[in-house]
Amino acid sequence: MKRITVAITGASGAIYAQRLLHHLDRSAEISHVHCIVSAPGRRVLLEELDISGSGNELTLALTGQTVSKVDVLPNSDIGATVASGSYPSDGMVVIPCSMSTIGALASGAVTNLVHRAADVTLKENRRLILVPRETPLHAIHLENMLRLRNAGAMIVPAMPGFYHRPETIEQLVDHFVFRIFDHLGLAHDRATMWRGGVRGSGAEPGIGESFE
Ligand SMILES: Cc1cc2nc3c(=O)[nH]c(=O)nc-3n(C[C@H](O)[C@H](O)[C@H](O)COP(=O)(O)O)c2cc1C
Repeated sequence: MKRITVAITGASGAIYAQRLLHHLDRSAEISHVHCIVSAPGRRVLLEELDISGSGNELTLALTGQTVSKVDVLPNSDIGATVASGSYPSDGMVVIPCSMSTIGALASGAVTNLVHRAADVTLKENRRLILVPRETPLHAIHLENMLRLRNAGAMIVPAMPGFYHRPETIEQLVDHFVFRIFDHLGLAHDRATMWRGGVRGSGAEPGIGESFE
């Protein structure tokens, strides 16, 4: 059973975090999800998904479950469990990840729990997945991401694929979310693997089973 930390920062794309938490909460391999939301992350949750509140109200909105494996930690609580490398964690995802948080992580300037938990994940050589979202990117953004990649983080930009022919935003987002499952080493029953072939040639392409 795995414990994953999910941080939501103030970049556009709050739905990626919502769908990731929805699916992590339902994964048989997950025992606990620590969630940290920055103040700008809360602002974007409100702007994009009409999500506000705290405690059970917030976890219900993020997971769709009244009782969930997700607990939300205050971003100001620099002494929370996930702030220590001695706390066993199986990885962290910052989704969406703002350029501000990317900059803080690249410089090692830790000012809140999102930064600290990510910094600890890196120093403990655990899986850190950053899902940056900004466009266009200037040289400092790109240099910061290269720095983080060289330090061991995975940079997985919020760039969804279209080859599985999504018909809804949820399908588009879920396909991306299950690629994150793949990177976390979590099993799932959604098809994310491209199988080759050319559409119309008889050797039909696709991503395996039909998309739910
Ligand atoms: C509605 C909204 C959308 C935003 N979208 C982005 C974005 O896509 N990428 C980004 O880097 N910052 C974006 N920002 C700006 C960040 O929220 C801001 O830089 C903030 O300081 C990030 O802090 P955090 O990393 O602690 O959450 C957005 C802000 C708002 C209010």
